[in-house]
Amino acid sequence: MPRTDRFRLADLPRTTAFRMTVLFGALTVTVVLLALGVVYWRAGVFLTRRLDETLVREAAEFLRASVPEQATHIDSLVDSDRRGHWRAALLAPDGRHLAGDLASVPKELQALDGGIHALPQGPAPTPERHHAARGLARRLADGRILVLTVRTNEVHEVRELILRAMAAGLVGGVILALAGGVALSVGTLRRIEAIHRASATIMAGDLSQRLPVRGSGDDFDKLAAIVNAMLAKIEGLIGDMKVAGDNIAHDLRTPLTRLRTRLEGALRRGGDIEAHRAAMEDAIGDADQILATFRALLRIAEVEDGRRRAAFAPVDPGPLALAAADLYEPLAAAKDLTFTTDIRPTAPIIGDADLLFEALGNLLDNAIKFTPSGGTVTLALRQEAGQAPEMIVRDTGPGITPAQRDMMFRRFTRGDHARHTPGNGLGLSLVAAVVQLHGFRLAVEDGQPGCAMRVTLGDAQG
Ligand SMILES: Nc1ncnc2c1ncn2[C@@H]1O[C@H](COP(=O)(O)OP(=O)(O)OP(=O)(O)O)[C@@H](O)[C@H]1O
Ligand SMILES: [Mg+2]
Repeated sequence: MPRTDRFRLADLPRTTAFRMTVLFGALTVTVVLLALGVVYWRAGVFLTRRLDETLVREAAEFLRASVPEQATHIDSLVDSDRRGHWRAALLAPDGRHLAGDLASVPKELQALDGGIHALPQGPAPTPERHHAARGLARRLADGRILVLTVRTNEVHEVRELILRAMAAGLVGGVILALAGGVALSVGTLRRIEAIHRASATIMAGDLSQRLPVRGSGDDFDKLAAIVNAMLAKIEGLIGDMKVAGDNIAHDLRTPLTRLRTRLEGALRRGGDIEAHRAAMEDAIGDADQILATFRALLRIAEVEDGRRRAAFAPVDPGPLALAAADLYEPLAAAKDLTFTTDIRPTAPIIGDADLLFEALGNLLDNAIKFTPSGGTVTLALRQEAGQAPEMIVRDTGPGITPAQRDMMFRRFTRGDHARHTPGNGLGLSLVAAVVQLHGFRLAVEDGQPGCAMRVTLGDAQG
């Protein structure tokens, strides 16, 4: 890429627009020159043939005149031709001059064969520029010699005209191609310069900056739109990362502070070995909680990085749902919740059974955790004809408001009603990562009351 910090004329010839225009200009000029060349050649042939026909006609007319009139015919042919194109002679059998303005037979015609010959130097060389001619000479029945020549000026004039047109076309074509190239590449360079300026701002750290789009839908606009979409995605990802980073820092501070306070308290209080042991056990519990948070975070990161896709295999969703139901039913019962299942056979899917089980477990865990005693949690699996299988976890808890639905999938985000329940706000992040890894769809719906988490186990586009 040419340096475009500043608009520079020297960069013009290096732009693609300039090169293309000059190339097309050169092609057009070549085609025009070729066409004119053909015209040049054909016009010469055509006009020469016309002159030859005139010569033959003149000779025939001369022969039609009676012998006494023939000398006058020749003289009047020469005299009446004001432009001096015609020159002729009638010579006696011994070469004596009888009529016309030529004294002898030009050397090209001395065969006296009546055929037409070219006279490059003219019938009688003169200092004029175009004196080339065509002529014929023949011996008549009575021995006299007839010489007729006509100059080929017109052929040369027409040819010269065509040559001038070719030259003008060449010069005009070159000028137009250069001017067009400059005009186009100035436009191109300006666009590149604008893009360069915007990129410099982006590289300086302003990720909200976008490449300029003119709205003309040209190649630059298309490219800029692609890059802008990419920038928006990157900006979103970096934003998420920043929020996640802030959240990690914020969320780990509480358990770490608690751990420190606990250890400090134990140290200050002193006491017997039993008291120290109890404090240490509590501290280990705190550390375990911090480690569990890290494990969950690393698990999400592992799923998000997509490498697990390599281990995808056919999975039957039915047994997977039954196993999850078996595992969580006792938890629901312990909380005095009604746990119902509606699991029907479906087609197998392609995926990672462990991750899918983990995701379903998180959904069931949330449903049981957030639904107050006496409520109902339902796990359903079904498949409509021609559709992908669907897994639905429904509960009669507080539900998630539409405004909060997207937010709850971010790391460490928890709803207000979750304050007094244990958890880190990482479960739904893992569910989202697993769904995304498989290319499935996840929808949060109103359960009226409560909420319904619907996972469509099929193409996100389907
Ligand atoms: N079934 C549900 N009913 C009502 N609110 C829910 C339900 N599932 C999730 N939420 C809300 O979404 C938030 C995020 O859920 P998520 O599973 O990510 O975190 P968590 O359950 O609070 O913690 P963790 O899953 O890490 O133990 C919850 O804190 C809760 O506010
Ligand atoms: Mg959860």
